Amino acid sequence: MKSIINKFTNIRLPFFSSLYTYFDLGTTNTRIGIKNKGVTLTEPTYLGYNSRIKDYIFFGAEAKTIVGKTPDFIKIIRPIVNGILYDFDAEVAYLQKMMEKSVDPYLSQYRFIKPPIRGISAAPTIATEIEKKAVEEALEKIGCSEVFVIEKSLATVAGCGFDIFSHEPHFVIDMGGGLIELSIISGGGIVSQRALKTAGDNMNKLIGNYTYLKHGIVLGEATCEDLKIKLLNFTKDEKTTNVRGKSLETGLPKTIKLKSSDIREALMSQFHHIVDAAKELIELSPPEIADAVFKNGIVLTGNLAAVAGVHDFFIQELKIDTYVADNYANATILGMMKLDKDQNTVYKLISTS
Ligand SMILES: Nc1ncnc2c1ncn2[C@@H]1O[C@H](COP(=O)(O)OP(=O)(O)OP(=O)(O)O)[C@@H](O)[C@H]1O
Ligand SMILES: [Mg+2]
Repeated sequence: MKSIINKFTNIRLPFFSSLYTYFDLGTTNTRIGIKNKGVTLTEPTYLGYNSRIKDYIFFGAEAKTIVGKTPDFIKIIRPIVNGILYDFDAEVAYLQKMMEKSVDPYLSQYRFIKPPIRGISAAPTIATEIEKKAVEEALEKIGCSEVFVIEKSLATVAGCGFDIFSHEPHFVIDMGGGLIELSIISGGGIVSQRALKTAGDNMNKLIGNYTYLKHGIVLGEATCEDLKIKLLNFTKDEKTTNVRGKSLETGLPKTIKLKSSDIREALMSQFHHIVDAAKELIELSPPEIADAVFKNGIVLTGNLAAVAGVHDFFIQELKIDTYVADNYANATILGMMKLDKDQNTVYKLISTS
């Protein structure tokens, strides 16, 4: 009987309208959205794999909170690396779980015949054709019958509130966990772009190296991320905090005091790399584009844009007006939803061949 019902619920009728879903498969955070419902899920892109039972047992926020605290047989997996789908099976398992949380509640209102799911995702320009196809396949595996993968930076710029089809160039720097993408967009395409793989998550490692070398203390990855979020700023607000780690000398717990200036020192070279990449992008642009960038300024997005005063740092270094996007945390997914308001737009932006 159950199998008959299952067959029945899987029937797709041509006149039945699809459920439109959107997936931002970020290195640190995954966002899922549904047309007319907004962003229905934001979860860390982490899983816990139990090698004894050979199955994934922790997902999202729960998996992230146990980083560094698991026994040997539980491995924390991050299926997206530098914005690229790296572990296909883990990503499918993760997305299946996230669908249960964010999309299934909407599907459950259809009692007998479920609508087909149309999925849109975005991949960075540095992704190869095979990597983009892997995103398509992952969405198909979780139940999407129609899938489109578009250029991530076009979606991000649209999500910052710009008309990507206008001939007025826009310069957006998306500072995420796995990639810093600097893109100049105009006329519906990418004019020029740079991608740095040393992004927010790499910064956590640099904080770990800094405290190891300067204070002889070993800190876990999660502690380093907390320090970055708590202390890092480019303002005069000098914050301090005590942090406990393992002494390099004795192997015993040790507490040290860290200041905002310590974290700035640890990460300064990273922020200078971003500035250098921005300068290079402008220098390589045709004069009309460079002129428009000077006139329109630069927009920052991605969760690193939350660092207080980071736009002032860019203004000081580049002498160009720099702003933080209103929707900096969700610009990519909101951009996909905005571009999909007109169905033909998505066809124009498909990035796979
Ligand atoms: N308030 C904050 N201050 C500093 N860093 C922050 C703050 N909030 C989040 N972050 C950092 O932002 C990064 C995550 O950003 P985001 O969610 O935009 O990345 P993502 O979209 O998952 O990754 P990507 O687009 O690069 O694949 C993490 O490294 C996180 O530590
Ligand atoms: Mg992102």
